[in-house]
Amino acid sequence: MNIHPDTPAWQALAAHYNSIKDSTLADLFAADPQRAKKFSLEFEDLLLDFSKNRITAETMRLLFRLAEESSLRQSIDAMFSGQCINETEGRAVLHTALRNRSNQPVYVNGQDVMPAVKAVLQRMSAFAERVRAGAWTGYTGKPIRNIVNIGIGGSDLGPRMASEALKPFSLPGMRVFYVSNIDSFHLADTLSGLSPEETLFVIASKTFTTQETMTNARSARQWLLTAFASKEAIARHCVAVSTNSEAVAAFGIEAENMFEFWDWVGGRYSLCSAIGLPLLLQIGPDHFLAMLEGFHAMDQHFRSAKLEQNLPVILALLGIWYNNFFEAQTQAILPYNQSLQRFPAYLQQVDMESNGKSVSKSGQRITWQTGPIVWGEPGSNSQHSFFQLLHQGTKLIPADFIGFCRSQTPLGDHHRKLMANFVAQTEALAFGKSTAAVRAENPGISDSLAAHKTFLGNRPTNTLLADELTPRTLGMLIALYEHKIFTQGVLWQIYSFDQWGVQLGKVLADKVLQDLNEPLSVLPTGHDDSSCAIIQRLKERS
Ligand code: F6P
Repeated sequence: MNIHPDTPAWQALAAHYNSIKDSTLADLFAADPQRAKKFSLEFEDLLLDFSKNRITAETMRLLFRLAEESSLRQSIDAMFSGQCINETEGRAVLHTALRNRSNQPVYVNGQDVMPAVKAVLQRMSAFAERVRAGAWTGYTGKPIRNIVNIGIGGSDLGPRMASEALKPFSLPGMRVFYVSNIDSFHLADTLSGLSPEETLFVIASKTFTTQETMTNARSARQWLLTAFASKEAIARHCVAVSTNSEAVAAFGIEAENMFEFWDWVGGRYSLCSAIGLPLLLQIGPDHFLAMLEGFHAMDQHFRSAKLEQNLPVILALLGIWYNNFFEAQTQAILPYNQSLQRFPAYLQQVDMESNGKSVSKSGQRITWQTGPIVWGEPGSNSQHSFFQLLHQGTKLIPADFIGFCRSQTPLGDHHRKLMANFVAQTEALAFGKSTAAVRAENPGISDSLAAHKTFLGNRPTNTLLADELTPRTLGMLIALYEHKIFTQGVLWQIYSFDQWGVQLGKVLADKVLQDLNEPLSVLPTGHDDSSCAIIQRLKERS
């Protein structure tokens, strides 16, 4: 166990863990025919079945007590009401205001931010309508057919994931691409098939200083200048999304071509801000608004539902149960849906950049475990790669299975087969296959081979099942995980909305770049021996 040392709720859970850690899911299900019903909740069409977890009613009672004892309610209110909860950066945390579909004001420093939020959304929608209708044309008068978003991290992963997830809602003929990596292959490969006349760049960066994005943006601008031999073309082919209007202007993008957001929107929580522009261009304002409605519905649920019926809270508590008591190191995210293929990568940033912390809010190095390693791939592909380890490996890997009753693209019996696998895997993980069952199927089998064919089971999963992947469902699903992560941060007593851990590498990269720019005869200094040798080798061989 790796738990908070002091508080009564953690201690009560520790004692409880010792009493039930050896119970099996098979025993728990056998003891209670109502178990699935007892440990399932619905929100709109979204079902969360968490019965295949190594928990009892007492586990949940104690976990809820932990949430109460951690003043979760007050923390939720503090976030939604615009208090400065991102203390190390001195900022409020108000991604929920971006999708506030009620008429309620939201105040930051005494000022209602909703008029500005609505105004930007209005501008984005009007712009998207023009581009989609062919009224906004490129420099030579041709309609825009290709959107290329240049951004990284939160300015890439969210819209990129959602663009993939909501492809069936796209305007036919409008293609959206995402360039993030500073590796020139990414930009070159993306642009190789595109006509500059029909291409619009969205340069997306909260700070507008990120090395990767600014380098790609400058190369994209050069690509346009080469094609059109005119600076005026830039205004027709580049728009910016940022909080930094000065840097945008310095880059040469007109104020009217900039869509702003605010410092109280964290990069990884920014999909509903102007960062969602490429998605809006792809799926149009109505679908984008439907997505915001889904986010808002889950926000309201998180804010108002009792802890015992609160989906994000329950996911968070179960995660803590495995992370801090069973000492699970990772959390698998397994969407049984090809169009959610980027969802695990997206959640990696939201979760690991938020809760990958080891200093408490009071500035002490902490002794308990915080954020898990988040990973995953869509099923059923993943069954044919890493599921072996999930079933028979030595590690305990809690997994979220995410699926839908109906396909976005119905075709024969594909979906039924996909979902048969979806159910079969959670069943196999939970209940395994005993050696006795192996023997019954294979009379005379050796002890050794029977051992290899035995599945111990008892591997926990959550099932998240919605009717269909729509913009609204996607919004609900994302907000579900955002609030799960927030809840865990509160219980671990860490700040979830800063990311100081990314700074050091950025600073060192600037120093290394200076060294790489030196002539061969100037040997690198100021680094360790290994790094100096690698820098010199790069200079010699590039
Ligand atoms: O390096 C991490 C990070 O700061 C993320 O938090 C952020 O989403 C990403 O870089 C991109 O930042 P920006 O939008 O300012 O370019």
